[in-house]
Amino acid sequence: MTGIADIRARNVTFWAQAAPGWIHHADRQDEYGRPLGAAALDWLRPGPGDRILDVGCGCGGTTAELATAVAPTGVVVGLDLDDSMVAAAATRFPSDRHPGLRFTTADIETAGTIAGAPFDAVFSRMALMLLADPVAGCSTIRRALRPGGRMAATVFRDGATSPWMHAVLLGAAPHLGPLPPMPIGDEPGPFAFADSERVIRILTEAGFEAITVQPHDVVLHALDDPGTVAEWLIEIGPAGAAYRDATPPQQAAARAGAARLLARFREPASGYRLTTGIWLITAATAP
Ligand SMILES: C[S@@+](CC[C@H](N)C(=O)[O-])C[C@H]1O[C@@H](n2cnc3c(N)ncnc32)[C@H](O)[C@@H]1O
Repeated sequence: MTGIADIRARNVTFWAQAAPGWIHHADRQDEYGRPLGAAALDWLRPGPGDRILDVGCGCGGTTAELATAVAPTGVVVGLDLDDSMVAAAATRFPSDRHPGLRFTTADIETAGTIAGAPFDAVFSRMALMLLADPVAGCSTIRRALRPGGRMAATVFRDGATSPWMHAVLLGAAPHLGPLPPMPIGDEPGPFAFADSERVIRILTEAGFEAITVQPHDVVLHALDDPGTVAEWLIEIGPAGAAYRDATPPQQAAARAGAARLLARFREPASGYRLTTGIWLITAATAP
């Protein structure tokens, strides 16, 4: 069994290698990926003056959306493990045009005090299932909240509810070099939070109260452009680093392979409908 320190180190490497793909597709991720976090935003209902932490903020699209909601007096801090994504977020959403918006590089599992804490609320879109030690990460989140603070996060449910993800990997992988190790059991990965009972155990151990885990089925709509959609999904997935290392002919074959298997989700002329099963996780700190 791999230890937490090894998995944490593997995560740092994984996200450093994945970052160029996420940065390349940041605008697309903001647009097409919005349904992945909408339920958490609706539940939090951020308003003027709120102080909010966005955990695993990537290139900052959700952090900027939260900052708009809390303006003109609120504060939103986007936190991410990878400094190149944090730098991209700060460039995309500069503080002179987005007052109250800040970005910081940190590992939520090991971060001590987070600048800007205590927060009224924590938001996180598709990041908590990637933590090597989720109890440690969620404990940091709890400590960063004020008494009676609220958290809303989204994560993937089991793989069968997001079939497009397998299509992308199966279609692209044969044309690319080695992929990162496949997560086993509870190891971090897209489906590590599939078991809602485990999610409740993690948050309970981290000291949260009023925990709920509710299923939502969302649809990501993407334009009818098979090559671009295939490249977006390859580059933000586990094959992203191998894709960037590949030769142009290999990349073209990977895109074509992924596009072929993604055809099931395509409605020509109207575009792609990528059904995705998520959990909306909500919790609060003691009053
Ligand atoms: C799947 S991406 C989601 C990014 C963004 N929230 C979105 O929905 O577009 C997960 C993000 O979590 C970050 N992440 C992973 N482990 C982390 C950790 N231990 N601490 C902080 N961020 C982490 C990654 O660097 C990555 O940007």
